[in-house]
Amino acid sequence: MSSHAELLRNVSLFANVDEAELQRISALLAERSFSKDAPIVSKDEPGDAMFVIARGRVKVCIQGEGGREVILNILKAGDFFGEMSLLDDLPRSASVVAAEDSTVLILKRDQFVEHVNNSPATGLNIMGELSRRLRRADDLISNLALLDVYSRVAHIMIDLAKRDGQEVEEGILIKERPTQQDIASMIGTSRETVSRVLSEFQKRGFVEMRGREILLSRKFTTDAAANAGP
Ligand code: CMP
Repeated sequence: MSSHAELLRNVSLFANVDEAELQRISALLAERSFSKDAPIVSKDEPGDAMFVIARGRVKVCIQGEGGREVILNILKAGDFFGEMSLLDDLPRSASVVAAEDSTVLILKRDQFVEHVNNSPATGLNIMGELSRRLRRADDLISNLALLDVYSRVAHIMIDLAKRDGQEVEEGILIKERPTQQDIASMIGTSRETVSRVLSEFQKRGFVEMRGREILLSRKFTTDAAANAGP
């Protein structure tokens, strides 16, 4: 089996796609690598392809006035992006930038349409993923409107723990947490505020910072999210 087909087997987008179609589609994919911080897709440009992340991580973001950035999501190996322009024929809804050195597999519009026609499973998988992204966006909107900054930091930590956390004896370890600037851009606040809140959490024994690793203590999930205020 080709290494592309091997990878696609573990991509939720292609779950339940039959072997022959998986082989056919994997032979059509082009591979491209991007260095950290390189733009992969730019908001508002036309889109003629979608991407599956083979290696690395990407940031889905929107740049505001004066260089401010909102990070909508961070996607990792096995995730996909760029499907929206292929589905609604509108320009790219957001920019996508390599958050670390990354490799993507590229599927052109015509190949994507042919594949979805061949494989109803992929259509359902896309709808499932769009629902999950909408739920996440709904949570984010309500958190921005309803929660103070302590609770917002607590919620984003829990979100990161659910996606990337590893159970260890003392709690949940997030191995490569986003930078404090990236966390700030995910919850609409400043890097200084994130730094202040994380120091406060550390003082209270909710978290332990270890360079790029962060440990969420057992009492974090019970106390911090429910009662995070200053
Ligand atoms: P498209 O609009 O073609 O190009 C930008 C891509 O970013 C978009 O397709 C989606 O794949 C992805 N994207 C946009 N918004 C989100 C989000 N909230 N969460 C995850 N991915 C997103």
